[in-house]
Amino acid sequence: MRFLTAGESHGKALSLIVDGYPSGVSLSEDFITLELHRRQLGYGRGTRMKIEEDRIEILSGVRRGITTGSPIAALIYNRDWENWKDIMAIWAKGQQEEKVRTGGEGEEKAGAGGEEQRKFQSAGYREAKVSRPRPGHADLAGALKFDLDDIRDVLERSSARETAARVAAGALARLLLLELDIKIFSHVISIGEVELGREIEPQELDQKMIDRSPVRCMDERISRLMMQEIDRAREDGDSVGGIFEVIATGLVAGLGSYVQWDERLDGRIARAVMSIPAVKGVEIGLGFRGSSLRGSAYHDEIFYCQEKGIYRSTNRAGGMEGGMTNGQPLVVRAAMKPISTLAKPLRSVDLVTKEEVRAFQERADVCAVPSAAVVGEAVVALEIANAVQRKFGGDSLAQLKESYSRYKDQIERRLT
Ligand SMILES: Cc1cc2nc3c(=O)[nH]c(=O)nc-3n(C[C@H](O)[C@H](O)[C@H](O)COP(=O)(O)O)c2cc1C
Repeated sequence: MRFLTAGESHGKALSLIVDGYPSGVSLSEDFITLELHRRQLGYGRGTRMKIEEDRIEILSGVRRGITTGSPIAALIYNRDWENWKDIMAIWAKGQQEEKVRTGGEGEEKAGAGGEEQRKFQSAGYREAKVSRPRPGHADLAGALKFDLDDIRDVLERSSARETAARVAAGALARLLLLELDIKIFSHVISIGEVELGREIEPQELDQKMIDRSPVRCMDERISRLMMQEIDRAREDGDSVGGIFEVIATGLVAGLGSYVQWDERLDGRIARAVMSIPAVKGVEIGLGFRGSSLRGSAYHDEIFYCQEKGIYRSTNRAGGMEGGMTNGQPLVVRAAMKPISTLAKPLRSVDLVTKEEVRAFQERADVCAVPSAAVVGEAVVALEIANAVQRKFGGDSLAQLKESYSRYKDQIERRLT
């Protein structure tokens, strides 16, 4: 299975093509909508998410709710596009206006500073051209790479709005995995300096309860402290990052492989999670925390008893040995840096005038860790679904299930 996404943050729609998805999977529109909705939630998000009500429109590859094996093409419309039709117009209609009256939230005039900027903003204007790159965003390198003189052409695509399409693709992967009883959860471990401070065992995970927490944290008291941390950053015109964890349960041993470097599932998962915008660190199992331990304290010993067969009593490896799942829950952590669009922008340089200015500023999240965790679930689901398909093949769900169940029986015999 592979997928590609397209679409700008304030364009008409995000689009998605998922290729290689098996036939015979029963899709649920409600399930996909719920996944998209979960990505939109989270304390600390900006006003944009109040405008959008993400829904998927499937264009192909599905008939009467059942996948056909043909590529699945889909759209997620951006409701905010209505407010951006002029700036984001695909075709130039007559003379391009220099400034666009928006009537909505004013944004700063790119390249301007001080008084002029404030007047521009209060008049409700939105500048068509952006020339003040934000430190920490794709703005500067992207404008150089594609030889663009308007940073909007970079920021529209580098925006994490794109992750809505990944979550839709991830929802398809999750529906496939659910057929094999593989489930994926996520929760937030820290926001800024506030930490959950304890390990969560897979059997404790309660997705509904986690989703009820505005910061998707398992502990109510810590949730409140995390929200206060976000409030403090907002009051200071600043932003905060944090750490989230993704856990997959119900995995059989042997997904992924040690025989070639690019077949290693740990590498594939690390790439997928690191590709989430603003994720700067990924670990599996104890990861960085394990580097100071001795081998004897780190590795998960192997035991046997008649009732359980071969088993482990710890999971410090996070369910992954030799680039393969080992039958234990997969545990992945990701560190997200603080959002780079700041209400009190950092120093930057205007790419046209070369003057020192404050970076471009647009409506932004103060913290998006809870939302990034939902994206984390999606990308992990996609990688696991991929590994499942590689191992068990099957153009149809029935073929896949048959081969999966035969393999499960085979390893069961060897473990007991
Ligand atoms: C769910 C989510 C929401 C985000 N929201 C914002 C935002 O509102 N403003 C912003 O500047 N960055 C936001 N980011 C992060 C940027 O997209 C990211 O920092 C940028 O694309 C540059 O990529 P890099 O940080 O990986 O280098 C968000 C990331 C995620 C995962």
